[in-house]
Amino acid sequence: MSKAQDRALALHRQRFRGSPTLVASAPGRVNLIGEHTDYNDGHVLPLALPMRTVITVEPTDGPVTLVSEVFGEASFDLATSAGTSSGWVRYVHGAVELARAEGYPVRPWCGVVATDVPVGASLSSSAALEIAALLAACPAGDAPPPASLARLGQRVENEVIGLGTGIMDQLVSAAAADGSALLIDCRSLDTRPVPLPEGVSVVVVDTGTRRQLETSAYDDRRADCAEAASTLGVSALRDAAPDDWTKLDGRVAARARHVLGEQVRVAAAVAAMEAGDVVSLGQLMDESHASLRDDYEVSSPALDAMVLAARGLPGCLGARMTGGGFAGCIVALVADDAVADFSSALLVAYREPVDQPSTEPIAVMPVRPSRGAAIEPVG
Ligand code: GLA
Repeated sequence: MSKAQDRALALHRQRFRGSPTLVASAPGRVNLIGEHTDYNDGHVLPLALPMRTVITVEPTDGPVTLVSEVFGEASFDLATSAGTSSGWVRYVHGAVELARAEGYPVRPWCGVVATDVPVGASLSSSAALEIAALLAACPAGDAPPPASLARLGQRVENEVIGLGTGIMDQLVSAAAADGSALLIDCRSLDTRPVPLPEGVSVVVVDTGTRRQLETSAYDDRRADCAEAASTLGVSALRDAAPDDWTKLDGRVAARARHVLGEQVRVAAAVAAMEAGDVVSLGQLMDESHASLRDDYEVSSPALDAMVLAARGLPGCLGARMTGGGFAGCIVALVADDAVADFSSALLVAYREPVDQPSTEPIAVMPVRPSRGAAIEPVG
């Protein structure tokens, strides 16, 4: 299939009878390590995927009019509230509304939305849509800087969609650097590219399972972390010492042990990447998965089964669930010369759990770390 940008341009010409002036695009992401640390003000190490969400832009005087290649057409007036839109266009409307309220010079446009980011697979399709929408709404020169784009995108999730998610997905989509993972300090929003070591590839594997009741579980984990921080007398778990979880009890102690351990693992992963120590990097990914499964309890039968299958194959140095959890994708670190065999062998080795069957195709996707959001002229 052609890339989202080619499809978006073709559909734009067909629907609006002419080429758009600009194209805004933003990538999905996969998180290498640093899971459920962003809303604890900690560090994360995601990378932008080559799969992007693309929005074509042709300025108009009328309402914003958008055609999704999958979900049909929608339009809204700039002056209206995002509460009047529903479905996918609510993300765009929310981004526009919040950007206007912050004084960015939003202009109405018509265009097409197309994406190569699998939806609902823990690869941040919604962050890609939010960031692409913000760039489309504030064309070149007027666009907010990456950290502001990310904050606006996060506010769409928090205030318009009603999910209490952190800043990781939007910031890596806005600020990623080609060829590198992005170390993000989720308190200061400082970012630093960390190049992928030579000789290994990142492979994303979609279990084909999709999230269901994850919203309340995500909020529950946030509440556990807030309770842990408050008991420890710190403003966020980021400020606690690595073994402070021993001062807590039961479930909250286990949640804190994950977050505090994950903080240490992110720092160790950056050091391993910079030293070219891919064996240690893989081990840290394995440890992260065990901690998410046992202490944080956000893995799932399908994610565990896929991690197990991946780890049994030659050339796989480490594997873990990625993103919020409960369904979706794992991320594996695989020696470059083993990637082709890994991809075919994994489909044979995976045992689909009876209690969490796939509803979408299982897909093995070697990915190169890609650039962040961009707005570019067409032509
Ligand atoms: C989701 C959220 C992120 C982050 C991850 C877990 O992807 O959107 O903010 O909390 O879960 O690391």
